[in-house]
Amino acid sequence: MNTFDLQGKHIVLGLTGGVACYKAAQLCRDLQREGATVQVVMTEAATHFITEVTMQALSGRPVFTSQWDARPDNNMAHIHLSREADAVLIAPCSADFIAKLAQGRADELLSLLCLARPLESTPLLLSPAMNREMWSHPATQRNLDQVAADGAVVLGVGTGDQACGETGDGRMLEPADIVTELIAHFQPKRLTGRKVLVTAGPTFEAIDPVRGITNHSSGKMGFAIARAAQEAGAEVLLIAGPVQLPTPHGVQRVDVVSAQDMMAATQQALPWATVLIATAAVADWRPASASQQKIKKDGSGEVPDLHFVENPDILKSAAQSARAQAGELYCVGFAAESQDLVANAQHKRARKGVPLLVGNIGPTAFGRDDNQLILVDAQGVTELPRASKLLLARQLVAELARRLDPLKAA
Ligand code: CTP
Repeated sequence: MNTFDLQGKHIVLGLTGGVACYKAAQLCRDLQREGATVQVVMTEAATHFITEVTMQALSGRPVFTSQWDARPDNNMAHIHLSREADAVLIAPCSADFIAKLAQGRADELLSLLCLARPLESTPLLLSPAMNREMWSHPATQRNLDQVAADGAVVLGVGTGDQACGETGDGRMLEPADIVTELIAHFQPKRLTGRKVLVTAGPTFEAIDPVRGITNHSSGKMGFAIARAAQEAGAEVLLIAGPVQLPTPHGVQRVDVVSAQDMMAATQQALPWATVLIATAAVADWRPASASQQKIKKDGSGEVPDLHFVENPDILKSAAQSARAQAGELYCVGFAAESQDLVANAQHKRARKGVPLLVGNIGPTAFGRDDNQLILVDAQGVTELPRASKLLLARQLVAELARRLDPLKAA
């Protein structure tokens, strides 16, 4: 789903020589779908892998390939291209181009504009792509360290089959992941240094090997919060019940099924975390004992005699832990209610013993891409009006950061 997070942004997309140039066509499209305008600049080597015609047709702008291009009035393409850009993104970025950047060389347009860009205001993001031996070569790793020290943002690489027939590290990230990284780059880094644990989705409590009890939670709000926290600079671990959602880029994920599994995974991660955001719709009860075999109808009309026991309260036990009590772990609870949202949320905040509780009306939130929230803390109630779950997640992250670090936000 497009979030138009790059609306109004002008991106210089630089292509250097490599087979991964074939992905640059899709990348150009994906950037535009998020609202960006794209100016393509290609090295001579890149033009051997994909044509200027293709990139011009996709970007809707003439492509620049030479520092001697006479189109700019003052004949200084490197100056006006770098001054117009909100970011310069090199994808694919070859080993040779990284070496050039490390040395500050500027013998063709793309490296020239990278050197000429205003360091403070125009970020440079590199999406490397190369053979695994080239990637792991000490010279490449040394050059990467150098360009990072000089202010470039070096994106990761993928692992897998390479065009050369070998398998390993060095593939360019997929276009969707590069766009996500760029969007994240523009988000304020409000949670740098925080370790955020998010529980999300429903749990599934088995009755027998084929049946169980679950609920309508889709996990979308929790996954959006994990993404927003990662964008804000936090390390994020997502503990997810059974949901059909892709893992947000850069987030670690542990999949669980039952409330007891979720409790065990959370307990294991809690000593690491400095923030817990419990969005999961944990089943309150589970069958006292799950049948090992499928329970069969015997035709008599008799129904199974199910008995339930209460599940452990994951959030409450975290909030009561010594680290939470000592202020080393900040716990955020969620309440999915069907009515009397404010009163129920205030009551739940006190019952769970958490500083911040986020309330929403479950039936108008489950499975949807939008939602509306209320935030309840000791100061009162804050409303976050209906918006996409990702936008709300970013607002919640901003509110959370303000509460975690009042001095920094002031
Ligand atoms: N929660 C939890 N472990 C449970 C039950 C709930 O960690 N066993 C967490 C949820 O992730 C959420 C908060 O507690 O952050 C509120 O959950 P909710 O189910 O809405 O509240 P309950 O305590 O179950 O109360 P009720 O069902 O009566 O509304």
